Amino acid sequence: MSFSDVLPFLHAWVRNPRRVASIAPSGPRLAELLTKEISPETGPVIELGPGTGAVTRALLARGVLQRDLTLVEFSADFACMLRDRFPEASVLCLDAARLARVPLLGGARAGAVVSGLPLLTMPPRQIFGVLSGVFGHVRAGGAFYQFTYGPWCPIPCKILDRLGLEARRIGRVARNLPPASVYRIRRRTVRMPLGTAD
Ligand SMILES: C[S@@+](CC[C@H](N)C(=O)[O-])C[C@H]1O[C@@H](n2cnc3c(N)ncnc32)[C@H](O)[C@@H]1O
Repeated sequence: MSFSDVLPFLHAWVRNPRRVASIAPSGPRLAELLTKEISPETGPVIELGPGTGAVTRALLARGVLQRDLTLVEFSADFACMLRDRFPEASVLCLDAARLARVPLLGGARAGAVVSGLPLLTMPPRQIFGVLSGVFGHVRAGGAFYQFTYGPWCPIPCKILDRLGLEARRIGRVARNLPPASVYRIRRRTVRMPLGTAD
């Protein structure tokens, strides 16, 4: 974690604790776990709630190009900082629950979404808006990675079922402040009953 990021983060948290939901940016181990399945072959990547860019830097370290990154951040201060730091990335300052109506990636589809959104403090309707909107921009087989400080997946089962998604925990980082788990969310694969394929 870069110490120059701690103060702006703390400042943002004091102004809006529910939206920022953490007093410090993610540590390097959590950023590594969140991005471990992502490589340059993943193609375009959407990051939701990048804050000061702790996870964005991990994506770049995985070989993802800045121009393949779309960063969606609600805070105007963070969005301004992200534009300075990652000038070739596309930075959108808006509520991630409104992505259904926003054209992204020049019509291409993302291979992955990485999210630092505080889903635990969001009402179910907003979570539904985030998931249904962003999966409209994700290609078949693409995945959504979400971290959480809670003991289980922060997306209610009802929402996963309604959108035909499944969640799986891919790891936990004890050495983060606070400790966190990462979930991979994907579209469910429809299994054909035996004997129906010709
Ligand atoms: C817990 S911080 C995570 C920051 C960064 N990803 C990290 O790991 O250090 C949550 C971030 O999500 C942003 N955020 C919260 N609600 C949002 C929303 N509805 N749409 C877009 N960004 C949002 C906050 O401004 C903040 O930057």
